[in-house]
Amino acid sequence: MQDRAASLLLDWYDGHARSLPWRVTGGALPDPYRVWLSEVMLQQTTTAAVAPYFTRFTRRWPDVQALAAAAEEEVMAEWAGLGYYSRARNLVKCAVQVAEMGRFPESEDELRQLPGLGAYTAAAIAAIAFGKRAVVVDANVERVVARLFAIDEPLPAARKAIREKADAITPDDRAGDFAQAMMDLGATICTSRDAKCLLCPLQSICEGRASGDPLRLPVKAKKKPKPSRTGTAFWIEREGQVWLVKRPGKGMLGGMRALPDDGWSARGNGHGEPPVAGMWEAGGVVRHSFTHFDLELAVAIHAGKQGPSGEGEWWPVEKLDDAGLPTLFAKAAQRVLARG
Ligand code: ADE
Repeated sequence: MQDRAASLLLDWYDGHARSLPWRVTGGALPDPYRVWLSEVMLQQTTTAAVAPYFTRFTRRWPDVQALAAAAEEEVMAEWAGLGYYSRARNLVKCAVQVAEMGRFPESEDELRQLPGLGAYTAAAIAAIAFGKRAVVVDANVERVVARLFAIDEPLPAARKAIREKADAITPDDRAGDFAQAMMDLGATICTSRDAKCLLCPLQSICEGRASGDPLRLPVKAKKKPKPSRTGTAFWIEREGQVWLVKRPGKGMLGGMRALPDDGWSARGNGHGEPPVAGMWEAGGVVRHSFTHFDLELAVAIHAGKQGPSGEGEWWPVEKLDDAGLPTLFAKAAQRVLARG
């Protein structure tokens, strides 16, 4: 079964690999910089969302030296909309470190030492960029393996068994192609909502399929409902310009440009002071889901004459697309601007 899984999957991959901007065909190893950048972007993010960002980044910063020399602020603004912004800060740190080293290290252990690289990303880069045998397990691979071996234990406890099985079927050769083939299978055929077993190269050896109900796998422990938070963002506009602030470096959406707000991110539910005294009008509510909570953010529009105090900048409303606002604040701005 072990060798059979790899050979069936690699044969399938040779004819069905998705064409993605960070991949190369024809057996050559891809540029480690492009592999690293794509794998960091793909952490918790879909290939469809990542592709346009990857293309813009690699046009603007074609190699690790170029990215190492970029201002963090520019990189953050280019990252806006992709989420999990600590990835962008670590990206710059990592680029600086690698540029100093002269090249990316090749082993999983050394890759793990770099900023922003966890076990998954280090394994993916070692396998895809350097052809090393590494066991690469992301959520797609987890699902494929849980079904292939009909692993009944619920996640997250099942991770150990899943990793052992993934290790058992990972080949010595073409480990990078094997990892990406597993990801493609999970993204296109063995998906969480559907198991298109008749199209699957592993159908003849899949224990989940043989059990008659592959969709029940992987079994998931019951999730606690996500907590909710509320807060308010403030829209202060003068002569076609809106007041933007820079969020503190360490907290949520740290280092990003944003509308001022009442501190919902630090305290749970925001009840901080608005940045200007006086009259406020209700500008609607936007909802946004973060990893650990759902947020309902009211937008208050300043209707008085005083200017804001504290640090910030006036930004032309018509150029707001260039401000690099994270999605939450871009939604809030859209809500205000849609009022006309
Ligand atoms: N998800 C994470 N890395 C990927 C890759 N290299 N190809 C496809 N999907 C992925």
